[in-house]
Amino acid sequence: MAVVTICNENKTLTNVDEITTTLSACGIDYERWTPSHSIADDAPADEILQTYSREIEALKARGGYVTADVIDVNPATPGLEAMLAKFNREHWHDEDEVRFIIAGRGLFHIHAMTGTVLAIEVEAGDLIRVPRGTLHWFNLCDDRRIRAIRLFQDTAGWTPHYTSSGVDENFLPVCFGLSHLSMTT
Ligand SMILES: [Fe+2]
Repeated sequence: MAVVTICNENKTLTNVDEITTTLSACGIDYERWTPSHSIADDAPADEILQTYSREIEALKARGGYVTADVIDVNPATPGLEAMLAKFNREHWHDEDEVRFIIAGRGLFHIHAMTGTVLAIEVEAGDLIRVPRGTLHWFNLCDDRRIRAIRLFQDTAGWTPHYTSSGVDENFLPVCFGLSHLSMTT
């Protein structure tokens, strides 16, 4: 399950209802999916898409998404640093950023209209929708591994627009990981 930190209040949430409510108040959709699909998280992308086709079609119907793919990033990914550098600065997109995490972890920072900054650490089973126009940035965790289903309204529109605000520099991309959860449960 995701771990959410309200950075301005230095408060960390690990309860799914609290997370969902807090994120919803900032316009972010969060769902914890527990689909009963027995598929290895390193299965080929087309098998992942086929296995999750019912959920993908439901999301498409809800959000007007037209295509889905699987992004796979690990420490050996060619051009990893350049890829990460595109998304670890505050930006927004002309369409929603929708991710269902299959494996690994990642850290979204959301800069809400209220000024609140939320850090959302996602892991396998987490679905997140960052609506178009939302200011955000993304980092990998220390294991530099994430695999996720992505949905697009228009692949041509999914380019980052940078704010160059420098706000992102005030927040260290720290993931808690499983060690944090085991300490609190
Ligand atoms: Fe983004």
